[in-house]
Amino acid sequence: MRRKLVVGNWKMHGSAEVIRQLVPAIQAGLPPASSTTVALCPPHVYLALVRELLRGSSVQLGAQDVAGAEQGAFTGDVSAAMLTDLDCRLVIVGHSERRAGHGESNELVAEKAAVALRHRVQPIVCVGETLAERESNATLSVIGAQLDAVIARLAEDGLDRIVVAYEPVWAIGTGKTATPDEAQAVHAFIRRRLDEAVAGAGERVPLLYGGSVKPDNAAELFGQKDIDGGLVGGASLNADEFTAICRAAES
Ligand code: PGA
Repeated sequence: MRRKLVVGNWKMHGSAEVIRQLVPAIQAGLPPASSTTVALCPPHVYLALVRELLRGSSVQLGAQDVAGAEQGAFTGDVSAAMLTDLDCRLVIVGHSERRAGHGESNELVAEKAAVALRHRVQPIVCVGETLAERESNATLSVIGAQLDAVIARLAEDGLDRIVVAYEPVWAIGTGKTATPDEAQAVHAFIRRRLDEAVAGAGERVPLLYGGSVKPDNAAELFGQKDIDGGLVGGASLNADEFTAICRAAES
């Protein structure tokens, strides 16, 4: 049985002062004995602070991005080994804001996933279509191509140790959410694709939904057969909303 997983992606929000209040508030709002894994992904510069605040907690630490190279002359980048140094257990790769805003290709995203795994950091590989792609019926071919690059890179080793997040680009930060049926259909497609590549990977890989997950839609989304939790942006900056979403994963 896959455990439910809820990951907060703070993006480029927060400050030391905000984080010192937000993390304890989130911890206080989570149920004491939970079957759900919860993780927080602050900006890189706050990883050490959040690690301190989470000491002794079951909430995991994650990062929002990692370099595709091991080390070297890459000004501004952060390596997987550095994330391991800070006890990061997870890292988001291929978020649509990085694919679109930083020109990240499917191949680079796959390389980032591989380098993270090499350092025992579990990659959360984001995939998703734009509105224009959905409207031209290209959703599954776009997501198939995004997945295939990762499959090609990891089929021999590692594919069953990743997490995949389906985040329709048109639903991110817009207040528009895929309906549970729309999300479930894509999740089922992703699971089949992984399983066709490596027998058993489909069953093992947790699949998250992301894109305007809120307390009032989380339970229905997470109740879908192939949705194992969520990647939560805006609502993860509010302790009440985020912990309500985590509790929705329990039901
Ligand atoms: P959102 O962001 O919940 O604010 O839509 C989700 C994400 O981009 O991971």
